[in-house]
Amino acid sequence: MKIAMLTSGGDCPGLNAVIRAAVLRGDRTYEDEFVGFLDGWRGAIDDAVVPVPRRRVRGLARLGGTILGTSRANPFHDDGDGVALVRETMERHEIDAIIAIGGDGTLYTANRLATQGIPVVGVPKTVDNDLAATDYTFGFDTAVEIATESLDRLRMTGESHHRCMVAEVMGRSVGWIALHSGMASGAHVICIPEFPLSIDEICDYVQQTWDRKRAPLVVVAEGFTPRDAPPGFRDYELDEFGRPRLGGIAQTLAPIIEERVGIETRATVLGHIQRGGEPTGYDRVLATRFGMAAVDLVHRQGAGRMVALRGTAIVDVPLTEAIDNPKRVTRDRWDEAVTLFG
Ligand code: F6P
Repeated sequence: MKIAMLTSGGDCPGLNAVIRAAVLRGDRTYEDEFVGFLDGWRGAIDDAVVPVPRRRVRGLARLGGTILGTSRANPFHDDGDGVALVRETMERHEIDAIIAIGGDGTLYTANRLATQGIPVVGVPKTVDNDLAATDYTFGFDTAVEIATESLDRLRMTGESHHRCMVAEVMGRSVGWIALHSGMASGAHVICIPEFPLSIDEICDYVQQTWDRKRAPLVVVAEGFTPRDAPPGFRDYELDEFGRPRLGGIAQTLAPIIEERVGIETRATVLGHIQRGGEPTGYDRVLATRFGMAAVDLVHRQGAGRMVALRGTAIVDVPLTEAIDNPKRVTRDRWDEAVTLFG
């Protein structure tokens, strides 16, 4: 078979490991041939297709980013006839099936194409860990490692200067990176979208920490808004896809904490640093298993389905399970974290 791969949406450590594993499995087991659509669905729309032979994927498991490039382009944007555009490119290159590696937006597009007869299978990708269809995705572990190391550093400089440090991590609509990195680094308050603390509660935890003669460390997910936020508290521009361009909640909170608690407070936004760099060993293995399983799924005529992790097993589930089904931090995980605050 001739299989096209694409990586779409925000990049994520482990994408290259998926590509490598898919090519190795396809080459060794099925004698498949591989090509890549460049920059996500844009490559399928604009006919930007490159060969991905076995020699091209050598040593890729440890490489961050994606050799295929990525974008948030969508073949159905502006009422485009996505099915016709993708079908034409597939016919021109005699492509039999597509492996789409991406988050909920990408998988939504993949499902729309699959329901109209395009043979697409999905590989879930998100640093935010926000897809309920899979227990974990690759990239999350790496992001948590990077965030934890950064929080340890912030904590150290905070202690030296007797300051409160507020660190913003990724997490558009869920707080998994904040929860895990905050717990790992011993943060004194963790602010996540699912269980929004009030400004008073945040300041109380900071005060309690300060009273114990510790330098408070506050971790905040980028998608957090305090429960009692006044109107206009957050004011974001929209990106070209109509999504709020997040970032900046740490800078908003820091002066409020400084004024209310009376401790010098500094804000740091970790931002895209959490998405760059080499994947952890865990993410390399998970991405590799996903890549191999995606090729097997193509050969089982698995159009409209995606690979997923359930416990320690790689399974496949309908793409629809990944759509509009965010995995939020659960009450029991939040209650555990709150025990450690202050
Ligand atoms: O969706 C993953 C994510 O990393 C979010 O946490 C973040 O808000 C967003 O992507 C950033 O997107 P961009 O790379 O377009 O700035």
